[in-house]
Amino acid sequence: MTVQIDHALEEIRRFRPSPEFAAQAVAEERLYEEAAADRLGFWADQARSLLTWEKPFTQTLDWTNPPFAKWFADGELNVAVNCLDRHVAAGLGERVAIHWEGEPGDSRSITYAELTDEVKRAANTLEGLGVKQGDRVAIYLPMIPEAVVSMLAVARIGAIHSVVFGGFSADSLASRIDDAEASVVITADGGYRKGRVFPLKPVVDEALEKAEGGTVRNVLVVKRGENEVAWNADRDLWWHESVATASAEHDAQAFDAENPLFILYTSGTTGKPKGILHTSGGYLTQAAFTHKNVFDLHAERDVYWCTADVGWITGHSYVVYGPLANGATQVLYEGTPDTPHPGRWWEIVEKYGVTILYTAPTAIRSFMKLGRQIPHAFNLRTLRLLGSVGEPINPEAWIWYRHVIGGGSIPVVDTWWQTETGAIMISALPGVTDLKPGSAQVAVPGISVDILDDDGNHVEGEGGGLLTITEPWPSMLRGIWGDPERFKETYWEKFGDKYFAGDGARRDEDGDIWLLGRVDDVMNVSGHRLSTAEIESSLVAHPWTAEAAVVGAADETTGQAVVAFVILKASQADQVTDVSAAADELRKHVATQIGAIARPRQVFIVNELPKTRSGKIMRRLLRDLAEGRQVGDTTTLADTSVMTAITAQVQ
Ligand code: WT7
Repeated sequence: MTVQIDHALEEIRRFRPSPEFAAQAVAEERLYEEAAADRLGFWADQARSLLTWEKPFTQTLDWTNPPFAKWFADGELNVAVNCLDRHVAAGLGERVAIHWEGEPGDSRSITYAELTDEVKRAANTLEGLGVKQGDRVAIYLPMIPEAVVSMLAVARIGAIHSVVFGGFSADSLASRIDDAEASVVITADGGYRKGRVFPLKPVVDEALEKAEGGTVRNVLVVKRGENEVAWNADRDLWWHESVATASAEHDAQAFDAENPLFILYTSGTTGKPKGILHTSGGYLTQAAFTHKNVFDLHAERDVYWCTADVGWITGHSYVVYGPLANGATQVLYEGTPDTPHPGRWWEIVEKYGVTILYTAPTAIRSFMKLGRQIPHAFNLRTLRLLGSVGEPINPEAWIWYRHVIGGGSIPVVDTWWQTETGAIMISALPGVTDLKPGSAQVAVPGISVDILDDDGNHVEGEGGGLLTITEPWPSMLRGIWGDPERFKETYWEKFGDKYFAGDGARRDEDGDIWLLGRVDDVMNVSGHRLSTAEIESSLVAHPWTAEAAVVGAADETTGQAVVAFVILKASQADQVTDVSAAADELRKHVATQIGAIARPRQVFIVNELPKTRSGKIMRRLLRDLAEGRQVGDTTTLADTSVMTAITAQVQ
């Protein structure tokens, strides 16, 4: 069937589940009915049936001190045992947990029994280093099995991991280590990316010089890149010397359901990243429930692949905790999609017979640009379900994904959620919901969302408003590490007892939800969240910069791109002879300070910034400019001629 991709935008298509798919689907309509009849009872049932509790809980939700929720609070469990040991005990030890594919083409398949042993060894090693319940361990690793092992080993001993994406700079790593007061860092010498080894241990060394807390006692280093590394014998240990030789006997203790599991930093509207805190029982319940029902997981036969890095929430919930709690077999890939050739992902799908693929719209759009002949050189017939996450997926990309990757008839689920929500909140259920390209569709069973206007009134009909979550949910964040005030202020102050997600949304005549992007100063670049304030403060930290304004401008591939407008200090004018070299220097500076993902697509050197009479920068006007539009209403500017001057400078 040929698709009129051009027309997809004008069409409201709907795709009924095929009868064959529906007949074997994990999800059922009755989930909605059960959850609607008794929401808490529904989640209690899920927690009991999906997880193994050492001590059963009797109370489902404690919401007596909002917004601080407790789920299953008097229950006890061990998260790692739920992801590992119990599967081995159930006779599934020989099932492959991870098919790992290194970027250069080396690979390892690891069974549940092997993964369990490795996690026990790592748990013993960490305990040997003095790590105890509640201690923080920073993890700065490439996408190698040891990343999963490290997270689970930390969880196993009741400690708290803070995974920092390997693309973040030494400064970003240092501030995260300081904020969490981590006592151990787990890293690698380096990992593979785009055909080269990128160093990690040297970045950790630099970060530990920068970190002010001096909390880190040990650095555990996996050998992966074989790159030269400096060694501090008092502090550093090789994984292959310590973990590999540790005992594979480890009795796991059960912890309270509310025992903290991890901190994951994400960008907010201010310069300082927020340490989002997640706990154990509720988080694992919703991660497992959604992984099973949204991805139609048949663990005994599926090969699942989520392409996210473990440095992001998607990697936490849908590479580590959801799939492993469900006993799934999955692919873990170290590298970039186009190395050593542009068909690398599709080669991996063919090699492992991937059946479920979960990725981001930005990846789909970049494959669209390359053309269908690249995926079509490989056998993709094993695929039976596709997922999308990170930003709205435009209908053209949805249709392309379904047809070119999925062969035309398999479900595509667009999943809306956030670092803070911990697990999927809005999505179709495959086999149940009629699919509608471009819309994330409906709240998953047991989740209550609403669209409100600025004053907190329910928006009737098709009008747009602010997306809120109206009832506490099991995998909700429990706070911002060390900053309860910021937690209340950011998410709860606006609507009282309802969670404010920061996204605009509208509901169509069928009740399906369409996400409209962030309503705050947060950008979404390739499905990653970046803060305008954080990049602005990085820019003004450069000695040349007097002032900076950053906007997220629409970008064909990455969704949004970072565009910066910078005023240079007059005193530095003689330093800067070439404007385009200065712009490059500033772009590089941001990449070094924050990480390559934050590098601005463009830096415009300007003489003035558009400000209101009260001195607030009008980013809306800069966005118009960055997106090549006619500049909008300037009447509230202190000086209305400013935009004309800036426009002239930019063009
Ligand atoms: C923000 C959360 C959830 C894991 C990846 C990003 C945007 C996420 C969708 C979607 C439209 C989406 C929202 C959200 N977003 N998924 N399916 N449709 N927008 O996690 O870094 O915490 O970012 O990503 O704006 O608030 P995150």
